[in-house]
Amino acid sequence: MNIGIIIYSQSGNTNAVAEQLKEGLAASNHSVKIERLKPVEQGEKKNETVQLEVLPDLEQYDALIFGAPVYAFSLAPVMKDYLQQISSLGGKKVVCFVTKGLAFNWTGGNRAVREMAKICQSKKATVDGTGIVKWTASSREQDITALSTKIEGLFKQD
Ligand SMILES: Cc1cc2nc3c(=O)[nH]c(=O)nc-3n(C[C@H](O)[C@H](O)[C@H](O)COP(=O)(O)O)c2cc1C
Repeated sequence: MNIGIIIYSQSGNTNAVAEQLKEGLAASNHSVKIERLKPVEQGEKKNETVQLEVLPDLEQYDALIFGAPVYAFSLAPVMKDYLQQISSLGGKKVVCFVTKGLAFNWTGGNRAVREMAKICQSKKATVDGTGIVKWTASSREQDITALSTKIEGLFKQD
């Protein structure tokens, strides 16, 4: 399967998870590419959609994994704006994940992945799974392994 891992990662945590997912999927004979969203200007501008340097071409992929950090108990605005401007995800398998700094469950992880999944569904994707990686928790590697195993199961080649 051709899989695109589309991420926003400011300080590199989400990117590190994406690299681990890529490694696992490539070992299962998938073709995997990580595309990192880069805003033209850093910093948020109120009431303005974030402009990205390059928009990934999603047509080439059978399945997509979207990954982003949790910011202020919600999905990072760069990913939110990006997902909202996608015209269609019809026929694609999709998995969404977030990384987060705070260890407690009520600090935005569930809300952020729900936001991601909802936007993807509104673009006609089938959201097969979601994941949350608590970056600073001792369970970090377990979170990543669980996500990786889940995705490899979902994207199994027939
Ligand atoms: C502006 C800002 C807001 C954040 N808000 C939250 C939050 O509400 N909950 C949380 O668990 N982590 C929060 N974090 C921590 C990030 O989600 C975490 O460090 C994440 O792994 C960063 O991903 P990245 O390295 O890919 O950019 C915040 C970080 C920043 C910079």
